[in-house]
Amino acid sequence: MTDLAARFRKLWDEIAPVGRDEGSGGYLRYALTEPELTLRAWFREQADGRGMPVQEDGNGNLFAWWGDPDTGDAVLTGSHFDSVPHGGAYDGPLGIVSAFLAVDELRAAGVAPVRPVVIAAFVEEEGARFGVPCLGSRLLTGEIAVDRAAGLRDAAGVSFAEALGERPAGADPALVGRFAAFVELHVEQGRALVERDAPVAVASAIWPHGRWRFDFHGEGNHAGTTRMADRRDPMLTYAFTVLAANKEARLRDANATVGRVRVEPNATNAIPSRVTGWLDARAAEPETLHGLVEAVHAKAAERARRDGTELSLTEESATPLVAFDGGLADRLARLLDAPVLPTGAGHDAGVLAAHLPTAMLFVRNPTGVSHSPAESAADADCAAGVTALARVLGELSCR
Ligand code: GLV
Ligand code: MN
Ligand code: MN
Ligand code: MN
Repeated sequence: MTDLAARFRKLWDEIAPVGRDEGSGGYLRYALTEPELTLRAWFREQADGRGMPVQEDGNGNLFAWWGDPDTGDAVLTGSHFDSVPHGGAYDGPLGIVSAFLAVDELRAAGVAPVRPVVIAAFVEEEGARFGVPCLGSRLLTGEIAVDRAAGLRDAAGVSFAEALGERPAGADPALVGRFAAFVELHVEQGRALVERDAPVAVASAIWPHGRWRFDFHGEGNHAGTTRMADRRDPMLTYAFTVLAANKEARLRDANATVGRVRVEPNATNAIPSRVTGWLDARAAEPETLHGLVEAVHAKAAERARRDGTELSLTEESATPLVAFDGGLADRLARLLDAPVLPTGAGHDAGVLAAHLPTAMLFVRNPTGVSHSPAESAADADCAAGVTALARVLGELSCR
């Protein structure tokens, strides 16, 4: 093992147990819950240990500064700590741990940046607790209204403002304006790097994507005494809609997933009164995505008529197509001699990209699996990611 891979493993092991579910081996690191708060405290310790003052933006995002904040034109890096339910270890934290190690590399090499290097930990990137992904970066950049964000509630009814302990501060154009570029390093969430036999890639684009909530209302009733012909069963409309989403996505080379469902009253011997299913849909072009959601909605509505149920559709979040800064991506790809690829996964970098030149680095994931305990990355590849990030930060902060 190289020295850098060993240092990666040592730092990684400090956070590896935090929020891990022993049963699944996955992580339960929801934003602003105890495991994530532990990781945020760890972030402060790491920053303190490196003499990097930590700034909070009032939205739950943390920023550790290396260099004089007043010089402006800072180079931002970092990612998020929060996970999906039983998520993988690397999605998010890899970008933060790699950033601290990249700063160490630059310092060890005697690099004195002309511009500050800033490490961010964005809050609620996955939207696993409050429903809207990239909530912290959306607040910071003004992409979501403060009232809406403050009032988002988790499954226990706790609002984002309550969890944060204050009303979110919202857009901070002055802070955003101090960043000249953002580079987020992230574990790859597919197998493109395995297929290309490369440890690191540069991102070109993020597919447009969003989340839609389908509420199906019917009539709750007794499973034994209600004749089949007399039922208004929203489970049927829901089940048909899941199949329709799958079919419509396949027809368009797009992605549709219903990974979350709520059934009321959720009893084996009761016809449900209400079923709520969340559709995650993604496609290469916005028109395709729009057409997909429209088609699923039309089929669900038609089926609801046959089932005697009612349907309402709510868009919970939408992220437009993100084309990362082509000049920056080309520059990094040349610097690192790395492939350039698009992704279907959302990231804070996708939100920041509308406000400043932004790029992403992906680190190979041998399983190609993500949002699952099976997500993985070899220490040697993580070290290659740190080296790549250090080169990029050195390049962007010294010129
Ligand atoms: C976030 O990881 C997403 O792409 O859903
Ligand atoms: Mn994720
Ligand atoms: Mn992520
Ligand atoms: Mn993500």
